Amino acid sequence: MSATEPEARQGAEPRTMQAGAKIVVRDVRKTFPTKKEDVNVLDGVDLTVREGEFLAIVGPSGCGKSTLLNCMAGFERITSGSIRIDSEEIERPSPKRVFVFQETGIFPWYSVWDNIGFGLGKMPFDKKHEIVMRYIALVGLEGFEKAFPAELSGGMKQRVEFARALAVEPDVLFLDEPFGALDAFTRLEMRREIVRIWKETGKTCILVTHDVEEAVELADRVAVMTRRPARIHSVLDNPLERPRDSDQPVFRELKDQIFEILGVERRV
Ligand SMILES: Nc1ncnc2c1ncn2[C@@H]1O[C@H](COP(=O)(O)OP(=O)(O)OP(=O)(O)O)[C@@H](O)[C@H]1O
Ligand SMILES: [Mg+2]
Repeated sequence: MSATEPEARQGAEPRTMQAGAKIVVRDVRKTFPTKKEDVNVLDGVDLTVREGEFLAIVGPSGCGKSTLLNCMAGFERITSGSIRIDSEEIERPSPKRVFVFQETGIFPWYSVWDNIGFGLGKMPFDKKHEIVMRYIALVGLEGFEKAFPAELSGGMKQRVEFARALAVEPDVLFLDEPFGALDAFTRLEMRREIVRIWKETGKTCILVTHDVEEAVELADRVAVMTRRPARIHSVLDNPLERPRDSDQPVFRELKDQIFEILGVERRV
């Protein structure tokens, strides 16, 4: 386990590290102009996301986690700095980068099949059916393709959301507190599921969560943001094999280290 300062502050990255980089965020600033005064949200964010890794981002409430994710996905324009995915500057959203949100965005009036097929656009029915059924199987919803969201549990709806995001074959999956609306048991189940899906599909996953335990359970590396105006305080490597056990000493040390950075006083 090791905490590293944001790479750019240590000077130029070695070429080998850049070679495996999927997303490179450099000195990103984001200011929201408001009537009263400008809100300075991101103030010099540096972060490198590696190809195929599972990266978690944690930080104080309201520090700019969602803003950073939106900027990386191209939904928000940055004020200055640069964000490159596969060496290309991000200027707009792309179907290669999809979001999974906390509040499920599936359409209540569409069946599971129609929800998952929605983003695929026009294509021959057989081809669409093949893709939709493949992702229904991947998320474990076989037999529910004709069901409507009202007939599904919270966890099942979240599975539909994952399947719909994955069906368009993105290469980066952005997860913004995707388990927040689920009950505790379903949340644990969905955490296991997302690791399985991530392993099977080999996507680059970036998860924003306020839950430090969730970050340590799921991620290869955890980026910790500072308070607003935010930058990345440190990026911690997680050396633990999966599945992980929160009782492992390294698990606890990593959690403590993150809490220390977040400045949270914990009562034992
Ligand atoms: N469109 C906007 N216009 C003005 N201010 C905004 C806008 N979007 C976000 N903000 C401000 O930017 C700051 C960061 O918001 P953001 O949602 O990115 O934080 P967050 O870390 O995701 O918060 P949370 O932990 O509550 O999810 C907040 O102070 C918010 O008020
Ligand atoms: Mg947020």
